[in-house]
Amino acid sequence: MTIPSQTAGPGTPKKVTVATLASFKARGRRAAFVTAYDYPTAVFADRAGVDMLLVGDSAAMTMLGYPNTLGVSMTEMLVFAGAVCRGAKRAFVVGDMPFLSYQPSDEDAVRNAGAFLIAGCDAVKCEGGARVASRVRAISDAGIAVMGHLGLTPQSQAQLGGYRVQGKTLAAVQRLTDDALALQEAGAFAVLLEAVPAEAAAYVRERVELLVYGIGAGPHVDGQLVISHDILGSFVGDIRPRFVRRYADLDLEVERAFHQYADDVRAGRFPAAEHLYPIEPVHEAEIRAARLPVIPSEARNELASLAHSLV
Ligand code: KIV
Repeated sequence: MTIPSQTAGPGTPKKVTVATLASFKARGRRAAFVTAYDYPTAVFADRAGVDMLLVGDSAAMTMLGYPNTLGVSMTEMLVFAGAVCRGAKRAFVVGDMPFLSYQPSDEDAVRNAGAFLIAGCDAVKCEGGARVASRVRAISDAGIAVMGHLGLTPQSQAQLGGYRVQGKTLAAVQRLTDDALALQEAGAFAVLLEAVPAEAAAYVRERVELLVYGIGAGPHVDGQLVISHDILGSFVGDIRPRFVRRYADLDLEVERAFHQYADDVRAGRFPAAEHLYPIEPVHEAEIRAARLPVIPSEARNELASLAHSLV
């Protein structure tokens, strides 16, 4: 499905850009933002009219089974990013810079951000505020759109004392605001606030010109991000963040399908007659002569009529 007001011509979705996102904000339209790590998810989310896709380093956990986000490499992230970008015709795609891809130097930051753009992304995201401002400035000066990420920043979760809600005191909210202003000054176009009280997000948003997106940051932001595995019920593990609403139970559905398939194979119910390629009846005699197995005539008749209906 394409969204009529977003189409450039019959069947051609118009790509969402930074300017589109700014116009959404000006019109009070909130952006729908989800994570995607593969081609089919990108296609389905794009067809559903999701505005923004984050190729998140959460792929480390959701796709690769690591215990946290630190283990995923640039090489792995670029495979995910390329697949998502091939699937997203309309949505704005943000590539998430993994741990140590931007922290060491401005040069590393620009080279790795550029690699996401070459893979097809529209922007990159990096975690941190004032302390990564020089990296954000370098990336932005290279002509690359940068989204900041403040609040609960998983790459520094050890420093933060774990996956904890941030911005709970006035001083902490002020620090968030100062960090957001540092990102703005450095040339970022947006900031993502993760796991902060709704009041903190509203406070920051009132004081910056950036587009402000939230994940677990309440409703007073310019768009909502969720991890697609959380809303689809396909995350393997016990993490169930409070801010997530579940829209499907894919874990149960996928397990049910595999279970049924395994049962059918073991019981000989799969493959059935309709799954077999028919032989031409004229070759049956030579096949019999060669003592190859010949399918019983009832199944053969069924196959012949099936083959006929496919011609
Ligand atoms: O990697 C990711 O999905 C993220 C979100 C948790 C904000 O950075």
